[in-house]
Amino acid sequence: MKGLFVALEGSDGSGKSTVLEGIKEKLSETDIDYIVTREPGGTSVAEKIREIILDKDNEGMDDRCEALLYAAARAEHTNRLIVPALNEGKLVISDRYVLSSLAYQGYGRKLGIDEVSNINKFATCGTSPDLVIFLNVDPIKVLERKAKAAEQDRLEVAGEDFHLRVYEGYQKAIYYMDNVKVIDAGLSKEEVLNEVWQAITNAWEGRK
Ligand code: TYD
Repeated sequence: MKGLFVALEGSDGSGKSTVLEGIKEKLSETDIDYIVTREPGGTSVAEKIREIILDKDNEGMDDRCEALLYAAARAEHTNRLIVPALNEGKLVISDRYVLSSLAYQGYGRKLGIDEVSNINKFATCGTSPDLVIFLNVDPIKVLERKAKAAEQDRLEVAGEDFHLRVYEGYQKAIYYMDNVKVIDAGLSKEEVLNEVWQAITNAWEGRK
């Protein structure tokens, strides 16, 4: 039986981490063979690239370098972890995937969605999620909340305009995609978790 590849997406502060914790708990009570992984990261090489990308000492990193580092981490993650797990028939859930690069680097950093898409096609050898779940949250609300938080990484401190562009990038990119489930992240934690769970289990049962 074929595996299933699900990517969980959303702006910083959309509540992805909380949802993922809930999903892991629910999955552990089933007999589904699954892995939950994250980007950038997921393998030891990709985790090292993650450290470089998110390090605040690397402020001012060239935007193309940043896009290529995300793609490099993704190549390793995809080819060494995701594809083998899918070939074993597993459910693979990744916290972020290519859509993040389209929104953050393509739109947020203004590198162009097509350009960033192209380097990612090379990196992933065309692997793409069967289902993308997008947690949709008002970016202004998130920025207000984040402003009060103490510790922020290099991407989180990138500024208001950047994060608003990222949100716009997500909206533009998902407009053309037919495998995206948009979930209102403004709902209660339980409701969001249930909707995400429904989307994943429906796709798992319906996989061909
Ligand atoms: P992380 O701490 O994992 O944030 P989150 O919990 O919001 O996912 O940091 C990942 C950061 O990297 C986040 O700000 C989004 C950004 N990012 C990109 O800019 N491009 C990408 O391709 C990916 C995967 C992440």
